[in-house]
Amino acid sequence: MRNSDAPLFEIAQEYLPGGTLGILTLPNGFKFMASSGSGAYIYNTKVEKFIDYLIGSGSVLLGHCHPAVVEAVTRQVKKGTNFYVENDKAVALAKEVATAIPCADKVRFVSSGSEANSYAVRLARAYTKKDLILKFEGSYHGFQDYAMVSSQFANPKVVRAIPSASIDSAGIPKPVAKTMIAAPFNDIDTTRRIIQKYERRLAGVILEPLQRTVAPKPGFLQELREITGAKGIPLIFDEVVTGFRLAYGGAQEYYGVVPEIACVGKSFSGGLPLAAVCGKAEFMDALDPQKGYYGSTSDERVFMTGTFNGNALSCASGLATLKELRKPGTYEALNSYGEKLRERMRETFAENGIKAQVHGDGAVSGFTFTDREVVDFRSEAAGDGKMKEDVIYGLLKRSIFAPYKLYNSVAHTERELDATITALDETLKAINPIRIAAN
Ligand SMILES: Cc1ncc(COP(=O)(O)O)c(C=O)c1O
Repeated sequence: MRNSDAPLFEIAQEYLPGGTLGILTLPNGFKFMASSGSGAYIYNTKVEKFIDYLIGSGSVLLGHCHPAVVEAVTRQVKKGTNFYVENDKAVALAKEVATAIPCADKVRFVSSGSEANSYAVRLARAYTKKDLILKFEGSYHGFQDYAMVSSQFANPKVVRAIPSASIDSAGIPKPVAKTMIAAPFNDIDTTRRIIQKYERRLAGVILEPLQRTVAPKPGFLQELREITGAKGIPLIFDEVVTGFRLAYGGAQEYYGVVPEIACVGKSFSGGLPLAAVCGKAEFMDALDPQKGYYGSTSDERVFMTGTFNGNALSCASGLATLKELRKPGTYEALNSYGEKLRERMRETFAENGIKAQVHGDGAVSGFTFTDREVVDFRSEAAGDGKMKEDVIYGLLKRSIFAPYKLYNSVAHTERELDATITALDETLKAINPIRIAAN
């Protein structure tokens, strides 16, 4: 008989592999069991309050329990959650996404960013009738086989020389790596050379326009657009993080570069499972079932379906989220918080004599302990990982929940900013004597 009073951590350890829901673990064994969220705050089961920079891995851009989302979801749950057929919420949301995202003539909803990206790649491969995809080392496009190569989770010590792709997970067939090549983010000359060498085999180029928390150098995206455009190679923006977050029109609007296909997710979901692949009609129309999936011999059909695609609950949440995001001043506030956070973190590291790079763009920030500029996977991986863990742990102990990158939401205000910087300063002051003694 199991002990029903066993603390949740023990139950999690017994029933969840590693006691976790995914890959997120907190440093130095810090224990956190979430029980609720409100605005910019997340609460543990002891009802202790933390400023939340994880915000559902970026999926709660309005902050937890935003009244407009709560109301829309509550209303919809009484009307039905999932129909697997066109419905009023999904159609209205498709129109809104297509209106907002510059490359989006048409939209197909899915439940996760990983799904959206795998379909984007399938669409590019179907369109070009080629197999090879170029990605950027250190990017993350989801869990699917092709994406888990040369990703953020690559081991920097064993990663293969560019452009060869390395497999980052057991269980992925080795031939998958042969369908992918990798380029260094922000290095347009090397990228150009790789594209020139492989152009006849390339089905597409996929990237995060803001790779993890590393911003594109001025001109990088524009030049990549020019090179791929001139060679007729489809460009895919993984905007699962940047879509509706950097600007209402995502990175395409923010950086002024428009791809053929884009994937959006997290930011417009209001915390419910929702993502979309969208793009130019010439790509998206391959998803039209009238092309005859059943019994057809057409090699132009692209198969794609899902039980929860366009489910009314997620779409109602998305519609309510977008309505809030469209309010004047939203993006100025989101981006200005991010900028101030990065600036004040930089000052705080400098005042404490810590060599650190603070990077990011808009409402997405990160830091790396190195004196070299962080421009790509390798320069970030060269940072002092132990120091980063110690700082994240110090922040957790001071009620700042920022376990990997820092996403700020619409609900984050000057009050949370000041509290974050105070906690960072205290953390560094506590760590510094230990570091100095150790050196
Ligand atoms: C840029 C990017 N693409 C894709 C994904 C995968 O999205 P999901 O976790 O919804 O499958 C993520 C998730 O963190 C992401 O950050």
